[in-house]
Amino acid sequence: MEHVSVKPAEGKLGIMVVGCGAVSTTFITGVLMARKGLAKPIGSVTQYDKIRIGKGENKKYLHYGDIVPLAKLDDIEFAVWDLYPQNAYQAAVYAEVLKAKDIEPVRDELEKIKPLKAAFDKNFAKRLDGDHVKDCKTRWDMVEALREDIRQFKVEKGVSRVVVIWAASTEIYVPYDENCHQTLAQLEKAMKEDDREHIAPSMCYAYAALTEGAPFIMGAPNTTVDIPAMWELAEKTHMPIAGKDFKTGQTLVKSGFAPIIKVRNLGLSGWFSTNILGNRDGLVLDEPANFHTKEVSKLSTLETICKAEDQPDLYGNIYHKVRINYYPPRNDNKEGWDNIDIFGWMGYPMQIKINFLCRDSILAAPLLLDLTLLSDLAARAGRYGTQRFLSFFLKSPMHDYTQGEEPVNNLFDQYVMLKNAIREMGGYEADEEID
Ligand SMILES: NC(=O)c1ccc[n+]([C@@H]2O[C@H](COP(=O)([O-])OP(=O)(O)OC[C@H]3O[C@@H](n4cnc5c(N)ncnc54)[C@H](O)[C@@H]3O)[C@@H](O)[C@H]2O)c1
Repeated sequence: MEHVSVKPAEGKLGIMVVGCGAVSTTFITGVLMARKGLAKPIGSVTQYDKIRIGKGENKKYLHYGDIVPLAKLDDIEFAVWDLYPQNAYQAAVYAEVLKAKDIEPVRDELEKIKPLKAAFDKNFAKRLDGDHVKDCKTRWDMVEALREDIRQFKVEKGVSRVVVIWAASTEIYVPYDENCHQTLAQLEKAMKEDDREHIAPSMCYAYAALTEGAPFIMGAPNTTVDIPAMWELAEKTHMPIAGKDFKTGQTLVKSGFAPIIKVRNLGLSGWFSTNILGNRDGLVLDEPANFHTKEVSKLSTLETICKAEDQPDLYGNIYHKVRINYYPPRNDNKEGWDNIDIFGWMGYPMQIKINFLCRDSILAAPLLLDLTLLSDLAARAGRYGTQRFLSFFLKSPMHDYTQGEEPVNNLFDQYVMLKNAIREMGGYEADEEID
């Protein structure tokens, strides 16, 4: 098959994860176990999904890796940054997501993954107090130090390409500021002048990645790359960016369930989502300023699927509420409740209740694999800037809000976008034919 203009996945792929917590260690351990044949990467579309290419008599169903040149699990090298110095083995044990039997076989490899010092500012996550932190005078120093980390990792591990993905704690909410975040020149000026209010540490990671020729993915709801200045940098460096916030439990359900209400033209008067979770993520999100970042991300899903302006009778008055409560006994096993108040024929009310007893990091891990492999692919295909085809994996997909562009939140529309991008990068025609 001809890969029109996609460069092959030659050499090793370096995946540098910001954060060495529950999500990142579950991801890394799973990849290491999978390549030993000791676990299966379930939930990963790049490893499992098959999509149709061609039509009629010529149609075939192929794995993504048979359509486009994806990096192989065997070719991945990992690095992490964290403000706690524990290696990936210790962090995986601490996270208590995986059982010992699923960690021990790759203990040696995990122990070798020792966190690089974090670019961190306590004002952005007050509940964290690790001291494995870079000593930087300014935000620009942070950028320089992170760039050096990326260059060294490339040399030490002999990787030909790097992708940087944020799986670190959610930072406090940094709203878009038109004096700092609009143009690249403004952003660089603010970093050099050490504007600590408008430049979050995560922005330094993103800036460093893009300037070192690495795609950047934001897995938390942080603003980071969701500002025009970063879009400009991604265009300038020809690098893909994606975000925000891994779509794992409750929002996955919401973006898959809301379309049922919409396609049946039922009314929606309220959707109350609440969660309890007890991991470190839950602890950080217990802080109102950090939760606000998550709340903004989680709330956006519904209004773009059930649109008030399109159907005022049905969706003109939706009460949408999202809550997260820190509850240590549950650790990483999050429980989410959704109460959905709908109404039908002649306005008669009904209720739907969804109770999802999920495992946060188990749902997130395959998303990290898919997002990193597909961002690496996009870079080799010459795609840069915001990768909208990755919206499928994200709670609050990036879009050009300065041009009034809307995010696509409907899971099934997102899936069509994903499949078509794979088809196009594989040299096939995009289409929406029903399988
Ligand atoms: N698990 C899910 O379902 C899910 C879904 C969507 C988003 N997320 C997001 O993924 C992120 C990770 O979640 P988790 O459960 O692994 O949390 P965690 O608390 O276990 O791990 C996060 C790690 O990031 C580190 N960290 C914080 N700031 C840092 C910085 N500036 N540089 C380097 N390291 C830093 C912390 O020390 C911690 O070890 C969170 O932001 C969470 O909101 C998770």
